[in-house]
Amino acid sequence: MAVLPIKTFPDPLLSKICRQVQEVDEDLKQLSRDMLETMYAAPGVGLAAPQVGQDLRLVVIDCSARDEEREPLVLFNPRIVEMEGQVVFEEGCLSVPEFTCDVTRAERVVVKAMDAEGRPITVEGEGLMAICLQHELDHLEGRLFLDRISPLKRSMYKKRRLKQIKRGDE
Ligand code: NI
Repeated sequence: MAVLPIKTFPDPLLSKICRQVQEVDEDLKQLSRDMLETMYAAPGVGLAAPQVGQDLRLVVIDCSARDEEREPLVLFNPRIVEMEGQVVFEEGCLSVPEFTCDVTRAERVVVKAMDAEGRPITVEGEGLMAICLQHELDHLEGRLFLDRISPLKRSMYKKRRLKQIKRGDE
């Protein structure tokens, strides 16, 4: 397994709509394992394929608490089939360094996908899991949580980030 480099804003791949996975083959299983290792190393609770430079509909998630056993979740071609309620949570993202902001999302979602072995799976998420599912699935549509906050806050972050990059301390 390998820890992969994580793309950060404003990398253009982060705003691309990702391709459907046709078949969960050995290469994709390896990619999902590398993405889990990358996520745990960061550390983070979720990671989407475009964040590691792959234009594919694949996300990995683990919302278990740090002192609990790991509960890795691998989802190929995930799609939301149900959503309800509303919740506000302060989000961050491994591709958006040094920034968090309140984001409004559904409180509960149901997602259908293929699991790590390519078998159909249905995941029901509430609380942090619901937020994480929506955040990661957004990545596959080329959306960052920055796209769900006020234009003012977004442009302030953008300015700060571009200055950081110019200074060379990414
Ligand atoms: Ni993210």
